[in-house]
Amino acid sequence: MNMIEAKEITYKYPDGTKALHGVNFNVEKGKIVALLGPNGAGKSTLFLHFNGIIEPSSGQINIANEPLKYSKSALHKARQKVGIVFQNPDDQLFAPTVREDVAFGPMNMGLSGKEVDDRVSNSLEKVGMGGFEDKAPHHLSGGQKKRVAIAGILAMEPQIMVLDEPTSGLDPKGASQILKLLYDLNKEGMTIIISTHDVDMVPIYADKIYIISSGEIIKEGKPHIVFGDVKTIRNANLRLPRIAHLMEILKKEDKLLFSEEYPLTIGEARRSLLEYIDGVKEDK
Ligand SMILES: Nc1ncnc2c1ncn2[C@@H]1O[C@H](COP(=O)(O)OP(=O)(O)OP(=O)(O)O)[C@@H](O)[C@H]1O
Ligand SMILES: [Mg+2]
Repeated sequence: MNMIEAKEITYKYPDGTKALHGVNFNVEKGKIVALLGPNGAGKSTLFLHFNGIIEPSSGQINIANEPLKYSKSALHKARQKVGIVFQNPDDQLFAPTVREDVAFGPMNMGLSGKEVDDRVSNSLEKVGMGGFEDKAPHHLSGGQKKRVAIAGILAMEPQIMVLDEPTSGLDPKGASQILKLLYDLNKEGMTIIISTHDVDMVPIYADKIYIISSGEIIKEGKPHIVFGDVKTIRNANLRLPRIAHLMEILKKEDKLLFSEEYPLTIGEARRSLLEYIDGVKEDK
C-alpha cells in the first residue's frame, strides 16, 4: 500500500515562483525513501504538501489511499498520521521550554498527562537530549534544536515521518545517531521519508531514491539504479557516494573489474574487494 502518494503535483508560490511541475512521488508502507536534489529544487515545497501545510495548485495528495482534504478537522487528522520535521528548527520550536515544546503535539492529541510525560522523556532520550527539558529552545545550539524538533514529532508517534534534511548541522556522531534511530523506527513499522544532501549515507538506509531538479522528478528507483545513472546525478549538481566514485576511478584505470554495479557503501565495497582479492589468489 502507498502511505503517501503525490499525483501530478504542481505548486506556484504567491509571488509567482513555480516550484513544482507535475510531481509524482509514491512511498510504500514500511519503506524508507530519500529525496535528493540541489538547493532550490523543490524538496521542502514537496514535503510541505504531505500533511497539507500547503495545498497544491493542481494535483492530489493521498495518505494511505485516502485523498487529503483541507478542512480543519481533516488536516488535524492527517497531521496525526503524517509528522513533518521542518528543515529549519526555528520554524518548528516555539514553546518557552523544551519540555513544553515536545509535549505540545501529544497534548493536542488528547493523551493523558502521564502518557504525555512518558512520551516527552522517551523522545528526548532517543534523540540524545534527555536532561534539556527545562532549557529554552532558543538557547540551544543548531544541532540541539534539530534534535528537539525531531523529538517533538517523534512524541506524536506518527505512522509516517517526513524529515527535511534531518542530519544537516549535526556532528558525525549525532547524524549517525539520528539515522540509526530512524532505521530502528522503520524496523518497528514506521514509514520514513527524508530529504538530504548526504549521498554517502543514502544507500545505507534508503529502499528507494527520488532525484528532483528544478521542480521535476528526473530519476527514481533503488539506490543502484539511481546512482548507476552517473550522468543524471552529475547534471543535477549532485555527486556519487565517495565509495562509488573511487570504484568508478579504479574501473576507468582498469585496476579493478566490477560487474555492472558500483558498490555504494563501505560494506558493499568490502565484499567486492574481498571477492576480487580471492579471485586474484585463485588465478595465481
Ligand atoms: N515562500 C516562498 N515564496 C516564494 N518562493 C519560494 C518560497 N519558498 C521557496 N520558494 C522557491 O521555490 C523553489 C523551491 O524551493 P524549496 O525550498 O522547495 O527548495 P529545496 O529543494 O528545499 O532547497 P534546499 O536544498 O535549499 O532546502 C525555489 O526556487 C525557492 O526560491
Ligand atoms: Mg529545503
